[in-house]
Amino acid sequence: MCGIVGYSGSRQAVEILIDALKRLEYRGYDSAGIAVCGKELQVYKDKGEIAKLQESLPVMKGTVGISHTRWATCGRPSKENAHPFVDCTGRFALVHNGIIENHMALRRELVARGHKFTSETDTEVLVHLLEESYKGDTHAALVETLKKVKGTYAVAVVRSGSNEVVAARKENPLVVGLGVGENFVASDVTALLNYTNKVLYVMDGESAVISPAGVRLFDESGQEVRREPSTISWTIDDAEKGGFGHFMLKEIYEEPLAIHNTLLGYLDDISDGNSIGSSRFSSVKIVACGSSFHAAMVGKYVIEALSDTPTTLELASEYRYSPGTKELPLVVLVSQSGETADTLAAAREARRRGCKTYAITNVVGSTLTREVDEVFYTRAGPEIGVAATKTYITQLVALYLLGMRMGIARGTIGPDSLRSMRSELRSMPKHVRTVLDNSSAIEEATDMLVNARDVFFIGRNINYPTVLEGALKLKEISYIHAEGYAAGELKHGPLALLDAHTPVVAACVKDHTYDKMLANVAEVAARDSPVLAIGFEDDTELNAVADRVIRIPKVSPIFSPMLITVVLQMLAYYTARRKGCPIDKPRNLAKSVTVE
Ligand code: M6R
Repeated sequence: MCGIVGYSGSRQAVEILIDALKRLEYRGYDSAGIAVCGKELQVYKDKGEIAKLQESLPVMKGTVGISHTRWATCGRPSKENAHPFVDCTGRFALVHNGIIENHMALRRELVARGHKFTSETDTEVLVHLLEESYKGDTHAALVETLKKVKGTYAVAVVRSGSNEVVAARKENPLVVGLGVGENFVASDVTALLNYTNKVLYVMDGESAVISPAGVRLFDESGQEVRREPSTISWTIDDAEKGGFGHFMLKEIYEEPLAIHNTLLGYLDDISDGNSIGSSRFSSVKIVACGSSFHAAMVGKYVIEALSDTPTTLELASEYRYSPGTKELPLVVLVSQSGETADTLAAAREARRRGCKTYAITNVVGSTLTREVDEVFYTRAGPEIGVAATKTYITQLVALYLLGMRMGIARGTIGPDSLRSMRSELRSMPKHVRTVLDNSSAIEEATDMLVNARDVFFIGRNINYPTVLEGALKLKEISYIHAEGYAAGELKHGPLALLDAHTPVVAACVKDHTYDKMLANVAEVAARDSPVLAIGFEDDTELNAVADRVIRIPKVSPIFSPMLITVVLQMLAYYTARRKGCPIDKPRNLAKSVTVE
């Protein structure tokens, strides 16, 4: 996720472009840049936050321009990889939010035709394609360019000598702001609220030409579109959160897109990947902390089920105390931030032991990425809420892909099961959306938790880690004591704590664990504990044993953690909200834990 701003008017553009960009910093903050069209095209960019860019900004005069704040997904955070990018003739500057999937092939072709690249990014191909397509009309050139790319984008372009900003979008947000004698474009309305509250939402596949005189919108076929402006009544604070009360909720709602982005490009060439995941290791060890450790636990089930590769787990803070083995496992380190001190120490220790290391992280250029042999980037975008939500879901995606890749390499996944797993993963954003659409039922279910002192979460097999994660989410943001338990373990101790005031949340998917789960739920109900069960939409038995049932779309049980987790995240969120807790910044916790 990155932030884009464009301005065309009669005021000096630079101040507006920087001020508006700062409102988008929550979308990305590893580098930033600006292009202003005055007598000539001037571009300035740097690594780091916008304030740093602003401090060193040269004088840039002109009334038209674009700016960008980056969250790296392709190419590390650096000055070279910061946007805007300029073509070889120096006429065009371009900023982009999204992922160009076929950039490698396009780059090869462009280089063969003499284009010189200055960055490692996927984006840069766009500006070179634009240069080739330009025949006197920037809008036509951009439309032509976008026909050649596979992927997702919100893009804005300026051309030296022109007072227009040309923009387009596909699966990334873009909004046009309407002023008097000046107009704007931005990734979202947050950027525009200081200047206007009249906006035109640009729809998927549409493009726009913005000038001081007005705005023209075009549909995919190039037909001009008329649309009534919308009036925004949000404050800046509301808008940063996209109208959601908290970043956590916004980030949960971003999960369908985060899954989609993380899968982009990986599902299709999963079988011919040449990465570590395709190599044969006799065993795997996954190392992580907190929520990432729970994702790792799901990963163990997935890797063992799909590739028959023995997989062990270690908390990162404990890894150094574990004995090394003669046979070296592939060590997978999972960390959304890539900066967790315990995980970094484990990565170093793994390499010291001679193991190959593979990181799964959400932050391009984070320290972890420099400590390992290979990196898989989840593409969840920046996560502001302390509680891991969309990063957790995308870690699961990364681990499914790793398990599939290992299964292909070891011959444990045949073409039919590969086909059906691919199709299930592709449907996951849709299924998560269905869970989100059921938010009112989840919110109502918090009646069962909000006054509790203790809550138990139970599950079996692959949903044992899922309930550990559900319990962690609840305790972290609502301050209710919560414990996740393997359902079979209840009778070995915790059952003594159950009574009518201690609710139990049970993950009950119809798989080989189902009958035993029902028996555990009955045990719990016999102690008068209120039971909230989560099960498949077609389950007809749960109502008889549970006080309340939340239903999720029917998927193969191996993928059910993704959907149950979303329910548990929302349950924690709504419970904490009813208790009036500071959800995005829970007491005593930090987003990345950089001490051991
Ligand atoms: O950045 P990491 O994934 O390495 O962070 C690990 C934990 O600190 C983190 O998952 C923590 O447990 C979260 N607050 C959970 O929501």
